Amino acid sequence: MSVRRVRARAVSHGAFIVLEGLDGAGTTTQAERLARALGDRGHRVRVTRQPSDGPIGTMVRQALTGRLVLPNGAGPLTEDTLALLFAADRLDHLAAVIEPALARGEIVLCDRYVLSSLAYQGSALPPAWVEQINARARRPDLTLFLEVDARTAARRRAVRGHDAELFEADERQRRIARQYRAAIRRRASSERIVRIDGGQPIEAVTAAALAEIERVLGVSR
Ligand code: TYD
Repeated sequence: MSVRRVRARAVSHGAFIVLEGLDGAGTTTQAERLARALGDRGHRVRVTRQPSDGPIGTMVRQALTGRLVLPNGAGPLTEDTLALLFAADRLDHLAAVIEPALARGEIVLCDRYVLSSLAYQGSALPPAWVEQINARARRPDLTLFLEVDARTAARRRAVRGHDAELFEADERQRRIARQYRAAIRRRASSERIVRIDGGQPIEAVTAAALAEIERVLGVSR
């Protein structure tokens, strides 16, 4: 087969790739870097994120930043309401953005997905219920878990210097890290989840992630 045909087939192939990690793990930075690297290799790439920029995701972001609260000063939305909103946003985002992009043969790089709900909402609610409300969300072809210890993540958030969101207190982040590990153990036999050392230099993380993505693209082509 000529080189030209191999390239043409690579370009037409879609895949659903998810980036996960604690706040400060570098998922957003790496999603952008990976999109550039894959684009340079001739792939069509769609970078997106959850909570999404759609109507339900926008509501979730308002809840996370304290713009959307219970009435009469009763505080933030309850954890279960929030878990349902994350799950609803996920299905809406799949239907509105992810599935159409995959159908066009694009590589979708999604910053956070079901594993975030299992880790974050699962650190405050029964994990089995969080699994259940996310059961209809399709499985990614590959999830890259950028692993950093809670202290490194906290340091990076401090440098970033924006106002703390709902889940960013240190003790909560340690619980979330434990739930990430538990959820990865539960799911590792039924889907492809790869841990990458997120404490490495930024270029090394990108290179490791790229190698995993190329492997998945190679297998399914
Ligand atoms: P965002 O500002 O996008 O964080 P970052 O850019 O650091 O990833 O806010 C997303 C927050 O929402 C983040 O703290 C993780 C949390 N989250 C959940 O709790 N459950 C979920 O299902 C998802 C997708 C995100």
